Amino acid sequence: MPAEGVTRYAGRVRLNPRLAALPTYPTVAIDRVRDALLAAGRTVYDFGTGDPIEPTPPFIREALRWSIADNCRYPTVLGEPGVRVAFAGYARRRLGVTLDPATEILPTSGSKEAVFHLPLLVVDPNSPDRTVIFPDPGYSVYYRGAVLAGGHPCPQPLSGDYVQRIWELPVEVLRQTRLAWINTPHNPSGAVTSLDDLRRTWETCREHDILLVSDECYMDVWFDEAPASILQVPGALEPGSGVLAIYSLSKRSGMTGYRAGIVAGDRLAIAALRGLRTNPGLAPQDFVNTAAAAAWSDDVHAEERRLLFGAKRKLLVDFLESVGLTVTASEASFYVWVRAPGGDGDAFAARLLEAGVLTNPGSFFAVTAAGRDHVRFALVPDLDGCRAAVEAMRAIL
Ligand SMILES: Cc1ncc(COP(=O)(O)O)c(C=O)c1O
Repeated sequence: MPAEGVTRYAGRVRLNPRLAALPTYPTVAIDRVRDALLAAGRTVYDFGTGDPIEPTPPFIREALRWSIADNCRYPTVLGEPGVRVAFAGYARRRLGVTLDPATEILPTSGSKEAVFHLPLLVVDPNSPDRTVIFPDPGYSVYYRGAVLAGGHPCPQPLSGDYVQRIWELPVEVLRQTRLAWINTPHNPSGAVTSLDDLRRTWETCREHDILLVSDECYMDVWFDEAPASILQVPGALEPGSGVLAIYSLSKRSGMTGYRAGIVAGDRLAIAALRGLRTNPGLAPQDFVNTAAAAAWSDDVHAEERRLLFGAKRKLLVDFLESVGLTVTASEASFYVWVRAPGGDGDAFAARLLEAGVLTNPGSFFAVTAAGRDHVRFALVPDLDGCRAAVEAMRAIL
């Protein structure tokens, strides 16, 4: 990640040193590069930040519009039942699992804030056993949330197939761990963890009383085979299992700006999390929950979007492979993960910029050296944009 601290502050008050030590947030860094290119009059094919450009389906926008009450009063942490009932329906259809909307589902303001706040549930900054395990490269909020909660961040370096195998970590690390993050389908690599490996991951966490949270926010963006969920592992929904899963409507339904996520799983952990979230009052607005309920109740639009992302992915992968590049993992998610020629992701991302193609070098997602030999393309431009980007890359590769 870029070494520069995120918070430049010239005043006299003493900032939290943990905050000052964090590197620039990757999307901030990549958006700066894009803005500089645009300011220089360059054409930019923006595969940088994973924010889809396809419109939110009209029925979702309508649901939001009509649900704004005359007086929008404080939302509660649990929210109205509608969104939880709708998510339970989705979980039954998509995953074949039965969730109790009253006790096993919580709405969140996007999944990012849930990822950020979850360490506060289990991390005791004064205790030696305060380790938080997360995939590296990975979504940078696992690291940031662990650091700011006073946890001990433990990146698990991934390579090869980019599947995270927690059971391979030393037992001394597992003994010190309170929270383990896994992410399937994985950002940035698109790797998918099998049901059997999910089961093994949970067995390892259970043995060491670790809260296991599976970030499954790309569950509905897949290309050949629908990914498995931690919630499908037999026993994962037993009270006290220590298993939670995180979902999002950002990519599934084109709702990044609405901030609509879900945490589901072990009812004891959900009850504790609900209590935690009353402190800052973390609760999506009722009108967002209504729009989210509409989105979780419909699979047709999600399937249309999935096929569209698949078409973009095919275009990109076919081209990259035709010029001799290696696409790694990339079985699902909103991303294509490409090995850089010569093994230097930063240099390759800079070279792609010559063609106006903006990607994220693997270093943006890594705390260790893992993944720095790759770049990530987010499937953002429309099909015509992808075709134009392919032609621009053809000229320089
Ligand atoms: C792995 C992962 N988790 C969580 C999120 C947060 O998504 P949102 O807050 O839009 O639901 C992202 C966003 O890119 C992500 O890549």
